[in-house]
Amino acid sequence: MLPRTLPHLRKLQAHTKLRAQAPNRIQTQFQRPLIYPTFPIRTFVRTFAMPPLPKVMKGVLIEKTGGVEALQYKTDLPVPAPEEGEILVRNEFIGVNYIDTYFRTGLYPAPKPEILGREAEGTVISIGSGNKYNIKEGSRVVWLGTGAYAEYSAVSVEKAYVLPEELPAGIGAAALLQGLTALTLIRESHPVQPGDFILVHAAAGGVGLWLCQLLKALGAHTIGTSSTQAKMDEATANGAEFMVNYKTETDFVGKIKEITKGEGVRAVFDSTGKDQLENDLEVLARKGSLVSFGNSSGAVPPFVISRLAPKCLKLLRPQLFGYISTREEYEKYCGELFDFILKDKMNVKIHETYPLADIQRAHTDIESRKTTGKLLLKP
Ligand SMILES: NC(=O)c1ccc[n+]([C@@H]2O[C@H](COP(=O)([O-])OP(=O)(O)OC[C@H]3O[C@@H](n4cnc5c(N)ncnc54)[C@H](OP(=O)(O)O)[C@@H]3O)[C@@H](O)[C@H]2O)c1
Repeated sequence: MLPRTLPHLRKLQAHTKLRAQAPNRIQTQFQRPLIYPTFPIRTFVRTFAMPPLPKVMKGVLIEKTGGVEALQYKTDLPVPAPEEGEILVRNEFIGVNYIDTYFRTGLYPAPKPEILGREAEGTVISIGSGNKYNIKEGSRVVWLGTGAYAEYSAVSVEKAYVLPEELPAGIGAAALLQGLTALTLIRESHPVQPGDFILVHAAAGGVGLWLCQLLKALGAHTIGTSSTQAKMDEATANGAEFMVNYKTETDFVGKIKEITKGEGVRAVFDSTGKDQLENDLEVLARKGSLVSFGNSSGAVPPFVISRLAPKCLKLLRPQLFGYISTREEYEKYCGELFDFILKDKMNVKIHETYPLADIQRAHTDIESRKTTGKLLLKP
């Protein structure tokens, strides 16, 4: 695990503390100029070495919502053309996120037919008009958007980020969405303080392992939950101080009270949704924050807010895209995320890299709780 003395981690602690004390100062204190690497010679070579663009591509299409059988692997999808404000990226690694299953099943509605997938890493092939950020053909970028389960995606230049040259292949796609989620949760949803006891559900999952590492770096005490001993070991190896198996523990609330010496936790980061809600309300300390940010066990049903009153609790339902909607926010958090990986050696755990054609197996695995860390696809 990371030594706590590393300068960047000290900065994370200071940032979070400052944010809690004086939210308006944060922007000026921690804005760092974003350095886009420039590779004039490599760009030239790549541009002219690029193979001609095909007319059709491999990808995964979903025509109607359903189980994993709704995911159709195709080899004849049209290659998209970038419009104004877009770039065309040849995807080399594609991130699988639990949210993709919600769009597949229809829990989150979206027009169909649709190519699923919210993030990928790859090479910029061509650029539409209105490229404000000087992204070049041949740049290696990571991006957030839609339509990632494919060989090529036309994506908004606003959400493309040029990767540091030294970042190993695949790490951008493995880190982006889940790492940014964890960073914004501990900074914006509940600014965590050193010494806080924090409950992290599904601590060995994609977002979960990021939370364990960042909370440890901040000096917080993480109590993680998980469903198997192997997952509990993985979360511990990544910084969780205490682990509870929420599938087998018969007195979950008592266990958390015992660990926190009766106080309860300052915040719960709950990605599971409906199954843990009652426990969350019980184990929170007075004035604590319930940060409900996912639905892996199902969506939280309608909720009577007066239940928050006895302990003056805060209830948040954040989504990543709301915290990084401006280019300034996106660059700031991406810059910090890749600094954590490169300078502070954060562990980016990849569960498995699946061929794109094995998309049904990848969805089956993430939904059946078999996975730890990140699932990637390779077109
Ligand atoms: N709000 C946002 O902006 C945002 C951003 C990213 C992710 N999320 C949400 O955060 C959650 C985690 O996403 P992720 O991609 O990192 O996935 P993940 O945590 O790697 O995978 C899901 C994990 O949830 C746990 N889980 C608990 N109850 C479950 C159930 N009934 N069925 C299946 N799994 C269950 C499992 O861990 P155990 O076996 O240890 O229980 C499973 O491994 C998802 O709900 C996702 O939508 C939200």
